Amino acid sequence: MPPCSTVILGTGSYAPERVLTNAELSRMVDTSDEWIVTRSGIRERRIAAANESTSDMGVQAARRALADAKLTAADIDLLVVATVTPDLQMPAAACFIQQKLGLPGAAACFDVNAACSGFIYALDTACAMLSSGRYRRALVVGVEKLSSIVDWKDRTTCVLFGDGAGAVVVGTTDQPDVGLIGTRLGMISDSVDLLCIPNGGSNAPATPASIAAGSHFLKMKGKEVFKLAVRGMDEAARDILEHHHLRADQIALVIPHQANLRIIEAISQYLELPMERFFVNVDRYGNTSAASIPIALDEARRGGRIKAGDLTLLVAFGAGLTYGSALIRW
Ligand code: COA
Repeated sequence: MPPCSTVILGTGSYAPERVLTNAELSRMVDTSDEWIVTRSGIRERRIAAANESTSDMGVQAARRALADAKLTAADIDLLVVATVTPDLQMPAAACFIQQKLGLPGAAACFDVNAACSGFIYALDTACAMLSSGRYRRALVVGVEKLSSIVDWKDRTTCVLFGDGAGAVVVGTTDQPDVGLIGTRLGMISDSVDLLCIPNGGSNAPATPASIAAGSHFLKMKGKEVFKLAVRGMDEAARDILEHHHLRADQIALVIPHQANLRIIEAISQYLELPMERFFVNVDRYGNTSAASIPIALDEARRGGRIKAGDLTLLVAFGAGLTYGSALIRW
């Protein structure tokens, strides 16, 4: 079977009900609304209920994406879930989402972990599998319950993250120049310890001492990550534009990973593209890692920011340190 192009047929997103404001955070740790807004642009974030799992949120976003595509679970034969906060370490969050959505038993289901770049990695994986001709329609979900791995006593990280989910339905098309035009994935070496969870993996299983020390929570060297995030996102954006012989001003809308408003502003300056061409919702959700781009994409579509024929650039950066970009023509 010859390779074919892939196209986004529908998008959906979900944010938990509970809003955690900067004012509330300033009563939990030694911080202030002014510090958080100035340093990150974040004003509030959503926090999942204690009994609301990663897969529950993923299912909500997936249902909305299916409805948008006017398809049902029976039409899906591939599910790729990007997350660093699966319900359990094993099996994959995709297995729980498969079960709750009622996807066909023959659907392939697995997780991808590329942290905040995870959605672009998952999208690329799903599109490659669809292009092979062996799958017909895919659900790609980016979902995180970061509140479960954040140390709520550590002001340097807890103010930055939030929970949520986004999803897209992907299919194939005969139309040339529509859909996923290309991707670029990569990683900056020697930086695995800048953003990680030190304990709880096979190399350093959790012990009573490691738990008492909080080493099962996310740890980040914020300043170093900031610099590399700007470098990685700029490179990922430039490389994909060059590869496709495009100028930045041909991009109608950039959907960047929503980690920090200052990182997005730096990319806007480096690419010499005004902030009006960047979709921003970090103020309302904080950093939702793999969920950030699909939530932003869904809000941009539903808000009328993406029109037929538009070229959209997705660009992300995350723990690893991984990076990725994708070009989509609508
Ligand atoms: N409230 C108040 N003060 C805080 C604080 C908080 N929540 N967090 C840190 N501080 C303090 C620090 O302790 C430090 O105090 P000191 O000067 O007395 O040592 C001071 O504020 C400045 O901290 P610094 O780390 O230099 O701030 P910054 O300008 O680098 O901003 C980040 C911090 C985390 C917002 C920024 O580095 C960042 O966004 N990094 C990238 C994070 C990211 O996006 N990660 C995910 C990638 S996918």
